Amino acid sequence: MSKIFQPYQLGPYTLQNRVVMAPMTRSRAQFDGTPGESAAEYYSQRASVGLIVAEGTQPSDDGQGYLTTPGIYTDAHVAGWKKITSAVHAKGGRIFIQLMHVGRMSHPDNTPHHRQALAPSAIAPGAPMFTATGMQDIPAPCEMTLDDIKQTVQDFRHAARQAIEAGADGVEIHGANGYLVQQFFAPSSNARTDEYGGSIENRARFAIEVAKAVAEEIGADRTAIRLSPGTNLWVSKRGKKGRRFTATSFPN
Ligand SMILES: Cc1cc2nc3c(=O)[nH]c(=O)nc-3n(C[C@H](O)[C@H](O)[C@H](O)COP(=O)(O)O)c2cc1C
Repeated sequence: MSKIFQPYQLGPYTLQNRVVMAPMTRSRAQFDGTPGESAAEYYSQRASVGLIVAEGTQPSDDGQGYLTTPGIYTDAHVAGWKKITSAVHAKGGRIFIQLMHVGRMSHPDNTPHHRQALAPSAIAPGAPMFTATGMQDIPAPCEMTLDDIKQTVQDFRHAARQAIEAGADGVEIHGANGYLVQQFFAPSSNARTDEYGGSIENRARFAIEVAKAVAEEIGADRTAIRLSPGTNLWVSKRGKKGRRFTATSFPN
């Protein structure tokens, strides 16, 4: 039998096989970010894979961008995720929650506070986004202050703790696909002149701070990070329009 069906030791966990379910945004949560009623059934139906990496989940109000994505920072979120993790564990599966802060990939109509999005620099992605009233262009975000950056690192730390409280086996930091962590990496979305912009070391600083904070909080053996070093999604040359996506094909 192929090696793919043999167990695999992932940090403290013996996975029942080497199949990993990729994170996929479902946009089926409630408006307050509590996972939807069908989520426990959806994930438990897939619990025979070695590891589920659950859908991108915001660590704060600012971290949300798409409509009805789940959060993991309030007590209601934790209670909602507990139903999911219990259902997956009951079938012998393992589940990590993906912490996704979208940065500039956000429309104020989709967030609980309806505020301008925060990002490394005030550069609009040049892309449309699905909202309750249809597709709309994403407005330019607000450049994060150093205090905003510090707060956001703490938001990731808090969300990781909440994920473990909710019974998750670990978390994956979404560092890929044009969201906040990658917006710091990419010169097309990061024009900062302070210690978070310019050199590779500076552009990597935010990702490293987030990863250190999460690992300190829940243990490095339960901390993952997803990276996509090369992508043409939203990180094409500044001023050039990003690829356009339909409501069902956005690249989270
Ligand atoms: C509808 C949809 C939602 C997605 N949501 C996420 C997400 O929340 N987090 C993430 O890291 N990737 C997300 N992705 C990317 C997938 O994890 C995966 O990398 C992508 O679909 C490419 O793999 P494939 O060629 O097997 O489809 C999403 C993809 C799709 C199609």
